[in-house]
Amino acid sequence: MTPSSNPFRDATRFERRVRPCALVIFGANGDLTKRKLIPALYRLAYEHRLPPGFAVVGNSRTEMTHEQFRDKMREAVLEFTEETPFEEKIWNDLATGLYYDSGDLKDAGCYTRIKARLQEIEHSRQTGGNILFYLSTQPSHYRAVIHGLGVANLAKPGNGAWRRIVVEKPFGHDLASARELDDAIPRVFNEEQVYRIDHYLGKETVQNILAFRFGNSIFEPLWNRNYISSVQITAAESIGVEGRGAYYQEAGALRDMIQNHLLQIMATVAMEPPAAFEAQTVRDERAKLLRSIRPFTHDEVRLNAVAGQYGPCRVGGQALAGFREESGVNPEAQTDTYAAVTFTVDNWRWAGVPFYIRSGKRMTKRVTDIAIRFHSAPHSPFQTGNHDSASWAGPNLLVLRVQPEEGITLRFLSKLPGSGMKLRPVEMDFKYGSSFGMRSPAAYETLLVDALTGDATLYTRRDMVEASWEAVHPIMEVWQNTKKEFPNYEAGSWGPKASDEMLGRRGHSWRVP
Ligand code: BG6
Repeated sequence: MTPSSNPFRDATRFERRVRPCALVIFGANGDLTKRKLIPALYRLAYEHRLPPGFAVVGNSRTEMTHEQFRDKMREAVLEFTEETPFEEKIWNDLATGLYYDSGDLKDAGCYTRIKARLQEIEHSRQTGGNILFYLSTQPSHYRAVIHGLGVANLAKPGNGAWRRIVVEKPFGHDLASARELDDAIPRVFNEEQVYRIDHYLGKETVQNILAFRFGNSIFEPLWNRNYISSVQITAAESIGVEGRGAYYQEAGALRDMIQNHLLQIMATVAMEPPAAFEAQTVRDERAKLLRSIRPFTHDEVRLNAVAGQYGPCRVGGQALAGFREESGVNPEAQTDTYAAVTFTVDNWRWAGVPFYIRSGKRMTKRVTDIAIRFHSAPHSPFQTGNHDSASWAGPNLLVLRVQPEEGITLRFLSKLPGSGMKLRPVEMDFKYGSSFGMRSPAAYETLLVDALTGDATLYTRRDMVEASWEAVHPIMEVWQNTKKEFPNYEAGSWGPKASDEMLGRRGHSWRVP
């Protein structure tokens, strides 16, 4: 099969070409490099989307030779590259461009060694001096790396080359630390060089929200408080903390998922139409929406935010540990492994429409979706049988399914066959997989290509990050000063009762996805 006759390898369906360049990964011995970055690069190589001579320089504290690094990354590709076949030739071509230099990030020598390596690569692999730095270390090292790159004069190239930096999440631990990082970056990099990543924005289905809303004329006229009664955004995970207990104990669900991924999804669902699909306009609209989220007083936090933590339970004969029993976790930890918040948006479009957002670990199943509930018809001349218009089983529900079964479902009422006029909800279903018959790129593939080609549309920006920290800040303050009765939900369930009560007070209930 020639590349162009195989849709999985047809580079022409992608608009952008990556020009010769090198990628430097700080934190190359970490989980993200192994699970996401290198597998994404392999898939890009498989689809002929990387330029000839493309090089990766991995850095972390652990001593390793280039060969050991290549072997480790090969294992990672074999383990974490689903759907794309492993081909020795593709891997070997990519692997010859992988280098590794260990070093202590606080030591200036680390950056001079990387600089020397990059100069050598520039000549041997013709990368043109173009470099993307990727910060994937412990966040506490971010400022040291930025400073080190500045001192080594690696951030400002000459001769028309480019330098960019991707900053992984978490971007700060709270509003104050996010601001400190934001203040440190411009001492070395200009804002246009900085790519703050939120991998949810790179997911095909999250990008498709924009296509769905702004590429069609039939939904947008309904996309406001006159037709929509509430919005639910759910990101449920069945996994626990997967060996990340020490990190997660300090983070919790509100910081780990809601402050970033879910608020970015909410901004995408609720933002105004941008004039063009380009970095500044799209990000301006997202930022404006995030700034319109109503800030909570401490009393409002108690009514509009619920924290949960999973306890042990048995699922299908298998015993699941509670969060406090996980390794690296303090047996009295007050960490939220579940968080649910009712946000309101103070603008004309959304006044009075609650945005219910929830995320949790060890829930019944893995699912991320957005459910838009429309008002009931103002008057129904029909019998609706047992249909209860106040529940999520009610009519006119639009569900945008982000994962795992990507697609869109529209629910409406239909006549039940037979005599009489009994109505039942039915569904119209669009499924990504069956409609396009090709693999969607993983978020990290999309976002790496974007950063390598200089497109920041799907990256967040200083004002967006700070606005989303501001939205969750009062919740963090209240939770820090409240002793919570944890655990309060069973592993394998849909979360704590208090979360159902939060919606119940407004006459709503969580939909079961
Ligand atoms: C990460 C969080 O940002 O997103 C993890 O730190 C979470 O805790 C992950 O599991 C979820 O991402 P995805 O793409 O698997 O839904």
